[in-house]
Order: sequence, then structure tokens, then C-alpha cells
Amino acid sequence: MLRLRCLIPVALSVAALAAPRPPAALRCEYLTDPIGIDVTNPRLYWVPDSTDRGASQSAYQVLVSTSADAARGDAWDSGKVASGQTVHVVYAGKALESGRTYYWKVRFWDQNGEASAYSAVAKFETGILDRTAWKAQWIRGGNVMRKEFDLAAAPVRARAYVTGIGYYELRINGGKIGDRVLDPGYTPFDKRILYATYDITSQLKAGRNAVGMMLGEGWYHDRAAFLQLEIDLAGGGHTRVVTDGSWKTAQGSILADSIYDGETYDARRELTGWDRPNFDDTAWKPAGLENPPAGVLSAEMMPPIRVVATLMPRKMTNPRPGVYVFDMGQNFSGWTRIRVKGAAGTKVMLRHAEVIYEDGTLNVENLRSARATDTYILRGDPAGEVYEPRFTYHGFRYVEVTGYPGTPTLDSIAGREVHSDVKTTGGFAASKPLLNQLQQNIVWGTKSNLHSIPTDCNQRDERMGWMADAHLAAETAMLNFDMAAFYTNFLRSIHDDQDPNGSVPDTVPRGKRTPPSDPAWGAAYPLIVQYMWDHYGDRRIVELHFAGIRGYADWLHSLADADGIVSFVRYGDWVPIERTPGDVVSTAYYYASVDVVAKMAAVLDKTEDETKYRQLAASIAAGFQKRFYHPDSHSFANGSQTADALPLAFGMMTGSEANNVINSLRDSIVYYHNTHLTTGILGTKSLLPLLTAKGHPDLAYDLATQTTYPSWGYMIDQGATTIWELWQNVTGPSMNSHNHPMFGSVGSWLYTALAGINTDPQRPGYERIRIAPEMTRDLHYASGSIDTVRGRVASEWQREPGHTKLEVAVPVGSTAEVDFPVLALSHIVVQEGGRTVWKEGAFVPGAPGISGAKLAGGRIVFEVGSGGYSFEARDGAVE
Ligand code: BGC
Repeated sequence: MLRLRCLIPVALSVAALAAPRPPAALRCEYLTDPIGIDVTNPRLYWVPDSTDRGASQSAYQVLVSTSADAARGDAWDSGKVASGQTVHVVYAGKALESGRTYYWKVRFWDQNGEASAYSAVAKFETGILDRTAWKAQWIRGGNVMRKEFDLAAAPVRARAYVTGIGYYELRINGGKIGDRVLDPGYTPFDKRILYATYDITSQLKAGRNAVGMMLGEGWYHDRAAFLQLEIDLAGGGHTRVVTDGSWKTAQGSILADSIYDGETYDARRELTGWDRPNFDDTAWKPAGLENPPAGVLSAEMMPPIRVVATLMPRKMTNPRPGVYVFDMGQNFSGWTRIRVKGAAGTKVMLRHAEVIYEDGTLNVENLRSARATDTYILRGDPAGEVYEPRFTYHGFRYVEVTGYPGTPTLDSIAGREVHSDVKTTGGFAASKPLLNQLQQNIVWGTKSNLHSIPTDCNQRDERMGWMADAHLAAETAMLNFDMAAFYTNFLRSIHDDQDPNGSVPDTVPRGKRTPPSDPAWGAAYPLIVQYMWDHYGDRRIVELHFAGIRGYADWLHSLADADGIVSFVRYGDWVPIERTPGDVVSTAYYYASVDVVAKMAAVLDKTEDETKYRQLAASIAAGFQKRFYHPDSHSFANGSQTADALPLAFGMMTGSEANNVINSLRDSIVYYHNTHLTTGILGTKSLLPLLTAKGHPDLAYDLATQTTYPSWGYMIDQGATTIWELWQNVTGPSMNSHNHPMFGSVGSWLYTALAGINTDPQRPGYERIRIAPEMTRDLHYASGSIDTVRGRVASEWQREPGHTKLEVAVPVGSTAEVDFPVLALSHIVVQEGGRTVWKEGAFVPGAPGISGAKLAGGRIVFEVGSGGYSFEARDGAVE
């Protein structure tokens, strides 16, 4: 069993009055030591360090400096600021200059007024802040570009600002620069193109240098390059190198590349030395100038796509002569690296698939038109050769190798896992193996669909930023990974792709899909804004997008009839077992979108908007009930689980009538469907949290652990290693991806219900936490931990008859309510760290950090400050 025990800091029972330790985990705009940011008022983050109970920050001081020791705050000295704020602290110093490194450190004063030492020095570096500073031109030609230049002296500081559309790889003096792959991220290119900043100081030298770029088609389906080198020389000189008509271009060893179809590489055509100085490029053509694309250049301020891991195959079979099929044991995103030795001109093909036929051969039917095939033509090196593609990626578990000279072995290939390199921030484990496998499948499904945008799938000819898929997966992603910078970028793309009438497209970037979206798809815009508020407390996101999400709600309003019903629908509750009328779904998401606008208006103190959208929400709810509610059967519309769940989950009906609907929903699940759900992607996200909130965590648990069709357990029993697009196990030429994160929305319920970790939207970003684990059915252990913006939050419980243990961790500056279920213990005694804190139905004061407790709704609710706590409940009667 996976245990997270070590994640919970050991509590000091007596608050020591020693100086607190310096703050850690310094970040700027959510990123660690970012290079090339282009916001002029970046936000800073740190985590004050203290194991004291009830610790908080009473004041802080930030020094931002242009010298590496950050000894002085010559850019900004905040002075001692009396504030508990440790996140989103806005830089308020001298105007930041382009292309400059800023070093910063912070100290804090704790709740006793004791100052910590300063933190270690962190840094951030600006990119190009002034658009007129761009001197490069867009160039095009073949798929390799080069230029040589001389430096009069050694470089002391050199930066490359670079992008390409589709993809680029930057090379200087014979080596690849940086570890990004499949860069830049996918944005609406007509609105915005992301550039990367690289520190290339150590790759350049005095004298002759060469810079080269390899180009792939990427999402742009064409190739163009843009680069600007800014080089400070020893002795004070400065050299600038830019893409322009003086560059030379040729066709390199990549014969063809496509995200979906794969790459063809002819190693015989390698232009050895092309990316080094003194290469004879007389046969190369001059690069052509390209009209600048309409999009503005913005710094790529999110975790780049990288090769994050290497996977070794589990098994190799030989289903037909010359056909070798490798099982990687896991569906993931990336590509295959192959080692091979053979004659020049030998062609080795690598085909990728999610599933195989019974005879062991590859089943590629569900990839539709994506060929997912990489072809390598050997140069004939007697020492052997190694190949992996650059400008494609596949979603796969199986690799077929054909054309291999000789017989491959298990170590002839390796899987290269490739996706946006978001940091893992969460962990969940439980005593039920099925739930651990579910968590695994969700994590793999989530990360393999983070490719600078949240994609719907990773394998077929699609991989788009489908908006419903995006909002359904968002909270689960935020619990498992640090998604803040990623969604900050995605929200900006949604905004870029929004039409003047407020509508947004079904996919972002829109590609060929023009707005309007299905109402439940476009709801990604308001919903992801709200999730950024809930999970990260990001007020700037709310400010930046308030007009946008209000515009979206207004657009929905323009579609509504007199009762507030929106009938426009494209997909509705997609891929369900039981269909739900489209107007029910569209209107529910209309309500949800308006509701978010009202809540975000409250966040921004926009009282008029808040009142207006609250009233609008109330009138939609009333119209919805009038149109769809059947008081006799206590259900909505056709009584599908989704029709009953959505209005309740969104708060469109409350009070005793809502409880009647919950009973209908229960009947549907338990009696009519033998404890199975029938929901599509939309209803599924709401169903388990709703049942749990309305007092039926046991039923939610039964659905989560069900193993017969339709259920997550069924997928697992059929061998799934990720989450499927459909509840059905289909592998034919239809729409049935085996890696689609949307049904993985149940992942957030594992954290919020079973581990019991919840944030409070009134004090978001885990400033206020509610730990309320559901200890239900046969579950006797669960644990969850999340590295939040404020530090680690953890909850871990175990129980046996007559004894329950709950350990929690609360970050410095946060407070939590810890809901301890009373369960069957009749004379409950609760101890914390060996000290009695609850006895004979009452709180026993005295334990550090615990300020009170009360009985509420069958639970003992403790009020605690920061620190680690270990609660144990026993039946007092048996002692
Ligand atoms: C995608 C989705 C998407 C849906 C819209 C599919 O092709 O893969 O997951 O949300 O279309 O209906």
C-alpha cells in the first residue's frame, strides 16, 4: 500500500520561540527562476517555513536586486510590510527593463514577531518587454536554416529569443540549445505566438560561430523561423544576430514530419557540420522573407514540453515474420527511440497503437487518419545508430517494428515520455487497490494530455483543446499537478479566440472550428477562471478575464428564451449511457456560467454586476424548474441521472425538494441500474460530489469502485492504463480513444471526499481548508497530499473497529477545520498527539494549535492553525 505518512511534518508540541527558518520555494509568476517573462508587474510567491503550531507570517520584506547576491534592493526594497500575504505579491519596484536578470530574496516575521533569515536568492529574467526591440524577420525556405557570425570578443551574457511555426529546434555550434521539444506551445497563431528565451552564453565563443534552426510543421502545417540573439561581449561591445535574408536554407535529413502521421528521417542525408562554423553552404539557398504572422509575440510562461522520462518495454512478441510488437505496459504520449545496426539505406518503421488484435498485431483502427508511423533510413554506421523523432508525437502503448535488420531485443527500443513538464503536486492512495489503479490511470491520462494545451486525446487525428474536456479535467489536473501557469496561458488563448459577441469556439485554439461553441463547452472559460480562483486564489486571473466571462454569459443570455431556456446545443451530455435532452444541459451550463460571473463579480467587489448576475441566475433556475421539473416523479425532464444531477450540483434547486430529487437519483442508480451510473462526460463530473454533499458518500463510493459495465473499474478490469473516451470497450474504426481525460474528472472526488481535502472559495488557494474525509464502506485507509501555493496540505486516516486515526498537515498562515467523523463510536474520546482534546461530548482545550471543537452533523469539528496534527479517536466506553 502506498503511504504518504512521511509527508506530514512531525508536530512540535510546544511552540518554540526560536527564529523561524527562512522562506522556501520562491517563485515568480508561478515559475521557479523563470527566464524570459514579459509581465511588467510580476507576482512573487514563497512558503514560510515553520513547524510551529498555528504559525503565520505577520510581516515580510522582499529585496529585488540587479546584482546576483541580492544584498541590496536596488530594484525594489519592499521594506517591512505588515501582511500575511505569501502568494501573488506584486512587484512594486523600479520599472523592469527588457532582457535583464533580477535577483530576489525574502524574509518574514512570524506570529511572535520573530524574523527569519533571508531566503536563498531566487531570480527572474525579463524577456523583450518593448515590442519595438524586435529586430528579427520571419524567414522560410527548407527545413533547416543557418547563419554564421563573428564575435569580436568572448560573450559575457548572451540570450536567444526564438520561435518558429510549427516547431523549431535551435542549434548553436553543433549542439541543441535547451531541453524544450515541440516548441512553441500551441496558441491561436493569428493572435499570439509564444517565444522562448535561452541563455546561450556558454555555447558562444570569440571568433566564428554558427546558429542553425531545424523546422517542423507542427500545428501550423507550415514552417517559418524567427530568432534574435542579443550578445554582450567582454569589454563592453554588443552584437545582435537576427533571422533575415542573409540566412541560408536547405532541405535536411527529415523528409517529412507531421504531428499525426509521424516523421521520416533519412540519416544518409545528414548535413554533417551544418550547425557548426566553417561549413560550406554554397549550395544552400538564401532564406525567403515571410510576411510577419498577425499574432503578437509573447513570452512562453508555462512549463515547456520536454522528454520527461524514458520507459522500457515490458514485452516483445513476433506475431508475423519480420514484425515485432513491443508492449510498453502503459498508454502514454511521446515517441520511440530505437537502436539499430545495419546497411545504409535500410528502412526501419515504427508504428504506434493503443491496442492490439488477439493475434498480437497492431490495431490502429481508432487512430482514424493518423498514421503514427516513424520511418528511419539508416546511414549504415558499423558502430550502430540511434534515432528518435523530433517533430511528432504519438499516444500509444504498443510499438510495431518492421524492417529491422536482424532480430531486435527488448532493449532495442525505449519509450520517450513527452508532455508539458508540469510538476507533480499531489498524491492519493487508499486501502482499496482499485482506487490506487484508478488514481494511476487518471494521472497518466492527465499528463499525457497536457501538450501546451489540454488535449482531448493523444493518439488519433485530433488532439485538440476541446473545451468541455478541458474544464472537466481541470480540477483533477490542479490537484495532481502544478497547473497554474499552464491554465494562465490557456485562458489567455480562450480570450484571444473569443468573438466580439462573447461566444467562444468549441476548441481552443479554434483551428477550423468557428464559434459558437456548445454552451457546455464554452463554459470552460468561466469555469477554469473559477478553478484558478478556488485552487490558487488568483485574483489577477479574475481581473483579466472578468469582462470575457461576462461577455460569454451575455452571449448565452442572448440565446435564451423568455423562460431563460437555452435550446442551442451541439453535443450535450456527450457519450452517455442514457441521453439527456440538449436544452436541459445547455440551460444548466448557462446557469453555471452566470453563477461564476456573479461569484467573480463578488471577488472583485463589483456589486452591481454581482446583483445583476445573481438575479439572472435565480431567474434561470426558476425558468428551468418551470420547464423541466416534474413534482410528481421528483425528477427533471426525462429523469436521466444527468438531468437530475446537474441542476442540483449547480445549486439550481435547494431545500427539501432537492432532497426528493436526490432520492429519485438514488433510485435510478441503485434500483433501475443496479448501482451503475448512466451519465455522459458532463453528468459524471457532478454526480459523485453531489451524492457525497447530499449525504450519500457510500453510494458515490459504490459507483467509484463498481467493476461491471459501465464503470471505471470495468475499464481497469479490461486492462486500461488510462481513462477511456467511452464507457464501452470498443476498438473498431469508430471514435473510441483509450486515453481521454474527461471521465477522469472523478479524480478530484478522490481528494475531496476520500482524503477529504477541500479549499474554501471565500478564502481560496487553501488559505482556509476543510479536511472532511469520508470513511465509508470497506475503506479503512486513505491519504492525500497537495503542494498548494501556500505549502503542503495533507490528510491521512486509518480506522479499525473502535479506533480511528487522522493525521493532517496545514501550511503556515492557513487555518483548517478538521471534521472527524464520529462513526459508530458511542463514547468518543479524541486525543491529539497523546493529549485528550475531546471527551464526554465536549472540547478539552490545551493542545497547541487547536482553538476549539464542536459537534456538527455527526462529526466533531476541530478548528486548527498551521502545523502537523495526529488525531486518534477511541470508544471511551471500552477504556
Ligand atoms: C472529442 C471530444 C469532444 C467531442 C465534442 C470529440 O471528437 O474527442 O472529447 O469533446 O468531440 O463532441
